[in-house]
Amino acid sequence: MNDEKETFVIQGTKALSGSIAVRGAKNDVLSLMASSLLFSHPVTFSNVPAISDVEKMKILLQGLGVRADVSQKKRTIAVDASSLTHSLLDPALAEKIRASVMLIGPVLARLGEITLPYPGGCVIGKRPVDFFIEGFKKLGATVNEKNGLFSFRLKKNDGGTIFLPYPSVTATETLLMNAVLGHGITSIQNAACEPEVEHLAQFLISGGANIKGAGTHTIIVKGTRGELLSQKTKEAFPVLPDRIETGSFAVLAGVLGDPIRITGCLPHHVAALLERLRATGVSIRIGDDWIEIQKPKTLSSVDIKTGPYPAFATDMQALFAVLLTQAIGQSVVFETVFEERLRYVEELRHMGANITVCDPHRAIVVGPTPLEGKNVKSPDLRAGLAFIIAGLIAKGESVIHNVYHIDRGYERIEERLQALGAHIERVNTENNKA
Ligand code: UD1
Repeated sequence: MNDEKETFVIQGTKALSGSIAVRGAKNDVLSLMASSLLFSHPVTFSNVPAISDVEKMKILLQGLGVRADVSQKKRTIAVDASSLTHSLLDPALAEKIRASVMLIGPVLARLGEITLPYPGGCVIGKRPVDFFIEGFKKLGATVNEKNGLFSFRLKKNDGGTIFLPYPSVTATETLLMNAVLGHGITSIQNAACEPEVEHLAQFLISGGANIKGAGTHTIIVKGTRGELLSQKTKEAFPVLPDRIETGSFAVLAGVLGDPIRITGCLPHHVAALLERLRATGVSIRIGDDWIEIQKPKTLSSVDIKTGPYPAFATDMQALFAVLLTQAIGQSVVFETVFEERLRYVEELRHMGANITVCDPHRAIVVGPTPLEGKNVKSPDLRAGLAFIIAGLIAKGESVIHNVYHIDRGYERIEERLQALGAHIERVNTENNKA
């Protein structure tokens, strides 16, 4: 896993069928792992996905003096933060994972200081950190930047009001985590409403935090005055099913499913996606924790516009664009969340798609166009899966490079797609074996 020499070699196909189970959510487990620093005793999470971002977060935590043990067999991670002593995040590692910024809030709450590099992750636009800097300053922090490292200091959070210029997910989460152990009342306005934010708050509340409004745009936190939280039950806290993985499989099924049943998911978390998918003519049946999708004879074009939850997720944009290359007519893809999240278009055009980028936020897809198997390089995690779907639709062989991006968020994706009948192999280009 996570070898930069690995590729996926795919032979296009006509249809896939069977059932595919959704794993735990990357964006949920990462914030839960960060929040474990606020607990006095070990905490355990279940339904943990075997993805490389979890591994990176685990090593980052260990670098701070924390114990973190993963059981692949049980799909759990146990974190004991009682020994948290260090406040410097390993720069080389933190640069590789954007979620490292989420550690600012809890480490500041525990140690009063943290130093970290500019966070990495997917290159999908500027991804600045100004909301984090301004937000913590509102709570009384001082922030300095020297030699590419940011140092935050906040000995005591006496509360305050922060208005986020945009409902940023990780900024909301890290400010929330800091406020929980604070000495006053913190109000986060224009907060993100993503299910992972609400779920993080539920976990913190279960440990004794006083939080109101998580899941809405105004979150009010009454701090514990420095008292650490404690997990009240011996039960492991389950990570949410990954809604982006659910949506990714739904798109795959919309274009190739004959039919495909997606299990272990929460269909209401992907309502916006399912609405757009239905509009293309895809047939969808929904149960409490499953979705069954049958591709139609022909797909119709639709426009999509990304936005904060519950709107159409930006993480689904590239995947849906691949489906739109097979739809009859002209579709507009409007990406409002990130700039440069249309960087995958060039590679899809190379495969035969008719897509015109109008400006950094808008593209027009004209379909249907047959796709041809090619060598393509994934620019980010979600585009990586989009290319896998394109490869499965395409005639001939496709080779997807930068597989490490895909491994960041999708657990052993090739094995799970093979179970649906997909011809996809992981190949190590150095020794030519998987
Ligand atoms: C999170 C998700 C990511 C998803 C994204 C949007 C995690 C670990 N990652 O990323 O998978 O694609 O939400 O749903 O949960 N912004 C600023 N200044 C800041 C912070 C953000 O201008 O300091 C802007 C960003 O450039 C972007 C917008 O805010 O335009 C939203 O980004 P944000 O919600 O912060 O994304 P992440 O939390 O990084």
